[in-house]
Amino acid sequence: MNATEWKEKLSAIRDSFSVSINNVQTENPEAIELRFLGRKGELALLLRDLKDIPIEERKALGALGNTAKEEMMVRLGALKGVPASAGPAAKPNLDLTLPGWPFPKGTLHPLTVTLNRMTECFAKLGFSVAEGPLIEEDYFNFEALNFPPFHPARDMQDTFYVDVKDASGKDMLLRTHTSPVQIRTMKNQEPPIRIISPGRVFRSEAVDASHSFAFHQIEGLYVDKNVSMADLKWTLEEFMKDLFGSSAKVRFMPSYFPFVEPGAEVEVSCVFCRGKADGPRCPVCKGTGWIELLGAGVVHPNVLKACNYDPAKWSGFAFGAGIERFAMLLFGISDMRMLYENDLRILKQVQ
Ligand code: DAH
Repeated sequence: MNATEWKEKLSAIRDSFSVSINNVQTENPEAIELRFLGRKGELALLLRDLKDIPIEERKALGALGNTAKEEMMVRLGALKGVPASAGPAAKPNLDLTLPGWPFPKGTLHPLTVTLNRMTECFAKLGFSVAEGPLIEEDYFNFEALNFPPFHPARDMQDTFYVDVKDASGKDMLLRTHTSPVQIRTMKNQEPPIRIISPGRVFRSEAVDASHSFAFHQIEGLYVDKNVSMADLKWTLEEFMKDLFGSSAKVRFMPSYFPFVEPGAEVEVSCVFCRGKADGPRCPVCKGTGWIELLGAGVVHPNVLKACNYDPAKWSGFAFGAGIERFAMLLFGISDMRMLYENDLRILKQVQ
């Protein structure tokens, strides 16, 4: 074979390689690779024939052969999904048994995890989820909840007002608690009612380790015939046991909220020190063995009346809790601000 014949042969191989590549549906890439680039493939055999060609011409032909080989490898690689930028040196080889590239996954926010867990517990007890607006009317946030105008209890909640008036000419406000959803639900539904209502609330408060101007609450409302404080106690005890474990205990301390009578602060036995008075002073319960977690009570007759429910026929209980406080207890977070800073080192610890 002389140099001219060799070049013609090379050109013929390149042409039939192109035909094969364009017919990949009938010929698979591996078969094409073997036929043209394999150790006994057409190109390898042609390169072996170079030994018969005079040395002066052999070098240039060898370069032509190598260029053709690289070109074929790149085209085959592209077919198999190997990027051309990997260069001809990267022999196209795809090992499907290798593990994939890890990629960062997002996680749910600790508050969302906490809320989901709380919602699940109440769902088991028959409570469904209701929602209300963040920008609220004075009527729903205060008045229908038995806070008449100028009632001193309004001062308990430092309110952000909005420069928009409602239909009765009063300034709208950012809801200071989730309790207005009680009123909205009762006005829209016939009893029996069994709802929880999670969501964001706002108060004009300075930010510190246990306060924020925007935080989250979950409200609960149960209205039916003959609902009593005993039903409230049982419900909250079941809830706490489900969330914190079967050894959790609940106790009620008398308290005041205008929309319930009687009203109570509900405390749970300390989930950290388990109420052991003898050990070192627990920083969470301050050595008392109890943690205050909720406000609750029996729905005030004035609230039922505002919703056109006859207090002689219907009764109910209500409760409200801060979700941040639960998240801090569940995940051992000591400063509420950690829940808002979105530091991935914190967020990734909570699944
Ligand atoms: N809304 C109250 C607050 O934000 C919490 C609360 C107390 C809700 C007692 C209730 C309740 O439903 O019965 O401070």
